[in-house]
Amino acid sequence: MRIASIKALEILDSRGNPTLMVKCRLEDGSVGVARVPSGASTGKNEAVELRDGDRRYFGKGVLNAVRNVEDEIAKVLVGKDAYDQIGIDKLLINLDGTSYKSRLGANALLGVSLAVAHAAANSLGLPLYRYIGGTNAKTLPVPLMNFINGGKHADNNLDIQEFMVTPKGIKRFKDRIQAGSEIYHTLKGILKSRGLSTGLGDEGGFAPNLRSHREALDLLVEAAEKAHYRMGHEVFLSLDVAASELYDPQSETYRFEGEELGREELLRIYEEYINTYPILSLEDPFSEDDPEGWRLITSEFGHRVMVVGDDLYTTNPKLIAKGIEGNYSNAVLIKLNQIGTLTETLEAVDITHKAGWKTVISHRSGETEDTTIADLSVATNSGWIKTGAVARGERTAKYNRLLEIEDELGL
Ligand code: PGA
Ligand code: ZN
Repeated sequence: MRIASIKALEILDSRGNPTLMVKCRLEDGSVGVARVPSGASTGKNEAVELRDGDRRYFGKGVLNAVRNVEDEIAKVLVGKDAYDQIGIDKLLINLDGTSYKSRLGANALLGVSLAVAHAAANSLGLPLYRYIGGTNAKTLPVPLMNFINGGKHADNNLDIQEFMVTPKGIKRFKDRIQAGSEIYHTLKGILKSRGLSTGLGDEGGFAPNLRSHREALDLLVEAAEKAHYRMGHEVFLSLDVAASELYDPQSETYRFEGEELGREELLRIYEEYINTYPILSLEDPFSEDDPEGWRLITSEFGHRVMVVGDDLYTTNPKLIAKGIEGNYSNAVLIKLNQIGTLTETLEAVDITHKAGWKTVISHRSGETEDTTIADLSVATNSGWIKTGAVARGERTAKYNRLLEIEDELGL
């Protein structure tokens, strides 16, 4: 089924910054649409987001990326077989010709890659998860729901970026979402009653100023129990420290709760958390520039928690292979726009699962109403998804899509 046209448009993401929408039309009239997300606490090896750097939108415009899609990319892809995703993505990679997709822009490439996949699925009359994952795509993920925001995603005093509630002990997806929503609203009530801010961070979690990170963890435990969910049985806690943002490579220390900590001191704080709270996963506990920290935490605590690499791997199959070789972690965060095509993302998932590690399919802090990652999590049978609070349209779009898939699968 041949591609008839590819169009792009500059639209807004959830932070109000420009991003790309790409529309792919096939010769049978089927259409696929994709919208590209954008991160704030980015890893240094991420594929390059092409921004105009001129006066529009404070330099953040994406009109050059739009032009790259409609001129250069469309010229090569029109007439090509939309069912050949691997071939399409290879063409995109070769056409760009750089190692970080900086010439045409990873935002341009990803928009096209996903729009083609959506169009192909529509043309075959298949939901996207079925088109990508085949007949064995059936696992609804456990959501890591971000209820307290800090770090670069909020203007409060918390260094840790994400405090998440994870309903691993609840079987059905819709019951996991119900638990999330009830805990989220209970948390809001507790914050309000203590005179703490109920303003939100970028991913829809609350962003109060607190005395310590432990206070944030205590609040989540309190909210879950007050909402009648059993901590450590039905619901667990997960953290994304985003420690690359806290690291000073010169002194090899981490800025944490007003102190400068060495990696061993930070490790002992994690030990305390793991021993005190039902912690299920720790993402980016150390900097992407501190492999020694990763090796230490994985060898000491890898049997008790998921140690998830985000900045460390940037969804790059080569970097993940290196991590598997060096035992840096036991799980990988998967973000489509860190690598820039669907095929490479599926490759990243594949090598991670083959090593016996877990994947967590993830949104970005800057999102849109696009729901591709919901389908991707089911298609890959990942088992885990991270897509923010159970509030704000760009986050609930993914949860709502998963509710729809669960219903469709009759699970
Ligand atoms: P980002 O944050 O989208 O701002 O990079 C998400 C994360 O660090 O997991
Ligand atoms: Zn992260």
